[in-house]
Amino acid sequence: MILVKLGGSVITDKGRYRTFDPDAAGRLAEEIANTGQDVVLVHGAGSFGHMMAKEHRLHISVTESSQLLGASMVMSDVRELDLEVCRRMSAKGLPVVPISPASCAVMKDGALHRLDLEPFRSYLELGMLPVTYGDVVRDEARGLSICSGDQLMAVLAKEFGPSKVIFVTDVDGVFTSDPVQDPGAKLIERVDASVLGSLPRTERNVDVTGSIFAKIRYMIDMASLTGECLVLNGKVPGRLEAAIRGEDVIASRVIS
Ligand code: IPE
Repeated sequence: MILVKLGGSVITDKGRYRTFDPDAAGRLAEEIANTGQDVVLVHGAGSFGHMMAKEHRLHISVTESSQLLGASMVMSDVRELDLEVCRRMSAKGLPVVPISPASCAVMKDGALHRLDLEPFRSYLELGMLPVTYGDVVRDEARGLSICSGDQLMAVLAKEFGPSKVIFVTDVDGVFTSDPVQDPGAKLIERVDASVLGSLPRTERNVDVTGSIFAKIRYMIDMASLTGECLVLNGKVPGRLEAAIRGEDVIASRVIS
């Protein structure tokens, strides 16, 4: 089984509230379908999650009742994004089944504490392709918190031992600085804990789940279980498909 995360930056415009990219999602769906491999798919929230979550300070703690309405709106928005993604997948012949973290996960002080894996297991056995996503989830300490797609990837990688873990983003991999803003940014082909200190800690767009620094920390943990994680550019046609097939592609390889 191959574990793939479609980052919010590749399926949405992270700078414009609730802007889905149907072409990118449809093409990536086709690339996955072409390989015929068993995949578990996670996707980020992009502009369907981060902006509104920040406005209501859902990533800090939920102490005011007005935040509950904000949380509910984010839950609906990410579900809508998930529906768009799933529709593109099934249009390419992938038998997807959406699994909502709001119903099957529990957080504790911002960490993913419990995830009911039974639905993932049973749908996989049935030959279906589970799809889950970054969401707002109950938190035993904070009331509610944000469960990122990266946190879900870490737990799914641990439980299912995938043969490959692939993070799809809008740039070629992990860079020394933001390549969109800095033409001198260099691709880091092999990423391990030694580069953490030099990674940028800020993001181009609103991001309540942390900068590339936070994401790489999860990937390094995952790599200790799965060997390596690939970070690659999903805006370049064919790259995800080639990586799933095991071909050598332009990417960063995260190792532990
Ligand atoms: C964020 O999930 C979830 C919410 C803001 C509700 P991710 O952190 O996985 O999303 P992207 O990939 O950065 O957009």
